[in-house]
Amino acid sequence: MTPLEMATMPSGDRVPLAVRYDDVRAVLASPACSRNLRLPGLPRFVTGTGIDDDPDALINQDPPEHTRYRRIMHGTFTPRQIESWRPRIAALALELIPSSGFDLVADFAVPLPCRVICELLGVPRDDYQQFVAWTDMFLTTSTANEQARYQGYTEFMAYAAGLVAQHRTSPGEDLIDLLITARDSDDRLTEGELVNTVFSLITAGHETTTSMIALGVMRLMAHPDQWDALAADPTLTPLAVEEILRYDGPPANAFMRRVTADTTLPSGATLESGAVVMPDIKAANHDPAVFAEPARFDIHRFAEAPPHPHVAFGYGPHRCLAASLARVELVEAIRALVTQRPGLRPAWESVEWTSGLVRRPVSLPVS
Ligand code: HEM
Repeated sequence: MTPLEMATMPSGDRVPLAVRYDDVRAVLASPACSRNLRLPGLPRFVTGTGIDDDPDALINQDPPEHTRYRRIMHGTFTPRQIESWRPRIAALALELIPSSGFDLVADFAVPLPCRVICELLGVPRDDYQQFVAWTDMFLTTSTANEQARYQGYTEFMAYAAGLVAQHRTSPGEDLIDLLITARDSDDRLTEGELVNTVFSLITAGHETTTSMIALGVMRLMAHPDQWDALAADPTLTPLAVEEILRYDGPPANAFMRRVTADTTLPSGATLESGAVVMPDIKAANHDPAVFAEPARFDIHRFAEAPPHPHVAFGYGPHRCLAASLARVELVEAIRALVTQRPGLRPAWESVEWTSGLVRRPVSLPVS
């Protein structure tokens, strides 16, 4: 493969794809690679309005605005903070496993991340169903038309504003309270930024985690020897999760970048100022120059500290804000399944797949 392969985006536009590990990291870390794709005439990822068009979303900010946001939120998603949520996340995973045959996706992989983010944000229990209905509208698997999506978006934004206001009057210890009090010196998030952050966390965190749980459990069940090894020794789960993230992550690729100065990548390939490039994280995670026999799925691969960590959570300034939270969710989800249902087996003939941008099973009956 040449270092910059041309690829067709879902919009039909053709964009060069960085595929080598070093090139992908260079694009993701480069100050000359902007997330502002809101200029006329640029290639688009999807037709119609997409995430690239929202000037307020965290993922679309460049420094210095982006640096400011991340500085303010620095203390919110620390591994220590997230560790304090682990017992509740583990309990939720256990509660969701039905006693007999169930659908791994609909009954487990979908509700778990949704319940986690609801509880973390402090969404009242009675609002849960409404909250799920709105968030469903933004998911790539949703069949809602653009108008319904827009309505869902505005209703959800109004709800998020109400939630923030409620937490201002009666502060607690939920994630929203952490975001309200988060600060960098005297700088805090404004009301609008807070509401947008709540929205970003839900849209960024829901589908990705669902997909990784579904794909990861599927991958393990496709390698019964490795599933059994995990069931025999669940302390291997964090290691297995790293290999799952490398092998099948992230469910959607990184976002496109606009190059703002002529750039030479580590492979020697060049990008001219003004070009738009897609960093292909999946390809980077399967680069044979970095990961020996990349097509081999091996839960022991990361047993020794890897000289080259995978990039499933991205790299550089936009690296996943909640990587530690996602790791805890994945570990506790898989640990719950291998300990409670060590004999779990899939009905392969009944697997149904999404037809949207994120490819994952929508249904996977297990018994
Ligand atoms: C296994 C699950 C997850 C994976 C594989 C994942 C992957 C990623 C990747 C690759 C990026 C960077 C995209 C780019 O640079 O173009 C990213 C950014 C982000 N993720 Fe995640 N993510 C996961 C879960 C979550 C969760 C649970 C949340 C929130 C609750 C979250 C919130 C975010 C946010 C807010 C950003 C934007 C950060 C920024 O622009 O500075 N993610 N994620």
